[in-house]
Amino acid sequence: MISKTLLLSAILFLKGAEGQKSSQSPALDCPSLEKGDGYTQSEFLSRLAHECRYDRLLLPTYQTGEVVYVHASAYVYFIQPAEAHDLNFKLHFLLQLRWTDPRLAYTLYSPERTKIIGESDLRQRIWVPHLYMSNEQSSSLMGTDSKDVLISIAPDGEVLFSRRMQAVLYCWMNLQKFPFDEQKCSMNLESWKYNASILRLMWEKDNPVRLSTELHLTEYSLLDYWTNESVVRGDIVNMRLGGAGNYSALKFTFKLGREVGYYLMDYFIPSMMIVAMSWVTFWLQADASAPRITLGTSTMLSFITLASSQAKTLPKVSYIKASEIWFLGCIGFIFSALVEFAFVNTIWRRKKVVALKKVNSKYILKSTLTPRLARKELQKELQSSPQLTKSRSCSSLQQETSSDPAGPGYNNYLTVHSFPSALNLPTITTQSYDELIASGGRPRTAGSEGSDEPPKHHTWTQMTPQEIATWIDKRSRVLFPLLFIFFNIIYWTFVYCL
Ligand SMILES: *[C@@H]1O[C@H](CO)[C@@H](O)[C@H](O)[C@H]1NC(C)=O
Ligand SMILES: *[C@@H]1O[C@H](CO)[C@@H](O)[C@H](O)[C@H]1NC(C)=O
Ligand SMILES: *[C@@H]1O[C@H](CO)[C@@H](O)[C@H](O)[C@H]1NC(C)=O
Repeated sequence: MISKTLLLSAILFLKGAEGQKSSQSPALDCPSLEKGDGYTQSEFLSRLAHECRYDRLLLPTYQTGEVVYVHASAYVYFIQPAEAHDLNFKLHFLLQLRWTDPRLAYTLYSPERTKIIGESDLRQRIWVPHLYMSNEQSSSLMGTDSKDVLISIAPDGEVLFSRRMQAVLYCWMNLQKFPFDEQKCSMNLESWKYNASILRLMWEKDNPVRLSTELHLTEYSLLDYWTNESVVRGDIVNMRLGGAGNYSALKFTFKLGREVGYYLMDYFIPSMMIVAMSWVTFWLQADASAPRITLGTSTMLSFITLASSQAKTLPKVSYIKASEIWFLGCIGFIFSALVEFAFVNTIWRRKKVVALKKVNSKYILKSTLTPRLARKELQKELQSSPQLTKSRSCSSLQQETSSDPAGPGYNNYLTVHSFPSALNLPTITTQSYDELIASGGRPRTAGSEGSDEPPKHHTWTQMTPQEIATWIDKRSRVLFPLLFIFFNIIYWTFVYCL
């Protein structure tokens, strides 16, 4: 019984000793690097980066404590700015990083060897800086079969690490001048693990970023691009395991200008035509309600449809964009044309003839907007006028030209003609009387006290509502296009010069 336990413990002891021996063994046979030229590349590398002499979790300069400088360069295959409402863009590029890892210098061991080249497998064995893109939405290494990673190690330990990537990056566009805007978008590369006192990122000295000659930027043109180096405050921006400190960062910015051609052809020119179409209403008669209303509303609707299809492509930002100012301007013009019709039509349906001091816009508009006031003014003038009696001769001539349809009874209504207008526009005058009769106008307004004595004054002119409506339409035919041209001048000046 005792002997059995002794035997057992002896076996256990022996086993334990054996186990101890086997755990110590790797330190003893750390593979030799002597005569390195004789090994194949992968054999040599597995010896060079063997666990016993290389810890890939430690920085290349962990012994000296120096800053590791990582130089970066990029080759951009293509940039695809997304639709504006996504506020991002897609980038395909080759990112190349270069740093020196003294532990991988092999000149002494393998003098004949000029380069060690490997793909992802090599990447698994050596220290590689971890960078990330701080404005990325998504990114991935590209490659069909295996990922497109290439690493080459020079004899002095300089490592060149290239990878082909695609990334979707955020770009916070300012659309205030849309579609005449220029956008600056950037790719921000930042060190993930090590702060700036340990790892420093730098762009290569010359040509850090090269662009493919065939960047097919559909909607934009590339105006400029540049690179910047900076540090970001790690304690503010993000809280990483690395702890406090600033992190080294690289930035590549490019400036894109939007091609306006599409928007001109699809939005601005059609909307100009729609606005011009709304002016056709001024050539129609003021009582042609059906065609004029149809024209006004259909131009309004088609313009809104045009604008909303165009606005759908944009993000819903709160500020006013240049395209919206255009929208407001055009809709204002179309709306005013419609209002003009309502105004003119209302005047057309009035029955009372209006007396005017002079045939110019000020008096006509004044009388149409405040017909009663104008009449009162006239009355006042007539009462105070010392020429009342003197103007008898005028009135007699007046009665001659407009005698038969009106008769003397109409004289107390403001049938006051100035000489020139009465002579120049005899047809209009008679027409106005015809219409007065047709509409059964009641000549009451001028006040009853003047009924026996016809109030006449040579500076006053009379216009029927229909004449005034036509007059307003005629002025609008010129005024609206002129105002629209003026609006265009201001708009395009602002868009292109500010
Ligand atoms: C980035 O670099 C460009 C040109 O090299 C320079 O004009 C710009 O001021 C720099 N921006 C920052 C934030 O340093
Ligand atoms: C950077 O990080 C190291 C630890 O990774 C830390 O010891 C050092 O203080 C940090 N540097 C700064 C400036 O915070
Ligand atoms: C980080 O940088 C800022 C200036 O950019 C500096 O004021 C601050 O002291 C730096 N922080 C550390 C820990 O080095």
